[in-house]
Amino acid sequence: MLSLKRILLIVDGPGVMTHTAPLVTSLLRQGVAVRVALTESARLLVGDYFTTMLSGTPLVRFPDIPEKILDDSDAVLAAPVSEKLAKTLCEDNWQAAWKRVKGPVVIVPAFLPQEDGADIRKTLSSHGGGAVQWLMADGETTDMGSLGLLDVASPARCLEAAMTALTKRDFAGKRVLITAGPTAEDFDPVRFVTNRSTGRMGVALARMAAWRGADVTIVHGPMSWPVPPHGGIHACPVRNAQAMYDAVMACVAEMDLAILCAAVADFTPIEYSNVKIKKQKNTDGVFSLKMKRTPDILDSIGHATGRHPFLVGFAAESDHVQAYAQAKLESKNCDMLCANDVTKPGSGFAVGTNQVTVFKRDGSVVELPQMSKEDVARRILDIALEGMGRRAAN
Ligand code: PMT
Repeated sequence: MLSLKRILLIVDGPGVMTHTAPLVTSLLRQGVAVRVALTESARLLVGDYFTTMLSGTPLVRFPDIPEKILDDSDAVLAAPVSEKLAKTLCEDNWQAAWKRVKGPVVIVPAFLPQEDGADIRKTLSSHGGGAVQWLMADGETTDMGSLGLLDVASPARCLEAAMTALTKRDFAGKRVLITAGPTAEDFDPVRFVTNRSTGRMGVALARMAAWRGADVTIVHGPMSWPVPPHGGIHACPVRNAQAMYDAVMACVAEMDLAILCAAVADFTPIEYSNVKIKKQKNTDGVFSLKMKRTPDILDSIGHATGRHPFLVGFAAESDHVQAYAQAKLESKNCDMLCANDVTKPGSGFAVGTNQVTVFKRDGSVVELPQMSKEDVARRILDIALEGMGRRAAN
């Protein structure tokens, strides 16, 4: 969990009906205290108790925001707001108010389709670089019923922007590669060999690194856990181990940190049948699949010549966790290895928590408690950042 952060959420107009409930609840779920300020037009659409009940704090009426609330806020999210209000929030008297806030002010304008946004883009270009940041719609529309469609960033994108604004940017300027999820090894048009990875651990690593300012590439197999819509996360979906190897090797030399969390198939079927394989009558009910080794991505990076990133491997073990993890760390030439005992309840595949022990190249070991995958990701990134700093200093 983050240490308690506070955000001031300003809401204007009909977006209060579509964005406020999902945004407030998802921010609270991330451990953020939310104070909601509604404009008069938003208050006409929902009763004052709506936001008080949601956020657990008394409503503030925009524009009468008490100075104490500005001073206590770690960031401000104005989402969604009309084009007119978005421009007002950039005026000098508001710029002075924003200086009281500890972090950035993120403004999410909502356009009617007939507005071309030229005006607001002009305001945007003259206010770039300061405390005010903008989150424009990226082809997203929200259906406002009888009011029609509104061009506005989705609640999920607003959440990512808010969490980034609230998080210390200690990964700014760093390029991070994550592999995530399972791979699927096809042997006919309908069948494949795969494993139980959902991608949740890898996605948590990508998301936490992006919140901390990293430029993240996530190469992932067919996952059941979605990649969050964060502008700093570039998703590269692949299907099988060979495709994951190709995608990783094409970009790894540019990276500062690579964390290989994917559960890559160690074997793939030797033959692929272009037609669905039929049940055969003369096999005594036995079907055999001949398989061959896939390329080992972690090992290939660890033994590549030339520049390579700070390399973090994962190990999914079911026994002799310490011995196998140490052996993997050394044989694959990693800087760090995160071992999880996948037989422990609440650890490993397809659960929201994980229990990881980190083995470092210098022989030290950090045993992390069982935590949410997002908290495990935060701790792994902390340890990796420290190791990267030490490597750069040597
Ligand atoms: O996705 P979730 O449901 O959230 O589950 C998370 C997880 C259990 C998948 C994750 O925490 C985890 O343990 N990932 C590594 C799984 C694994 O395949 O471990 P391994 O011990 O088989 O592989 C060791 C390392 O080599 C891993 O970094 C793996 O990504 C890498 N590898 C393996 C085979 C291969 N051909 N290429 C590789 O790069």
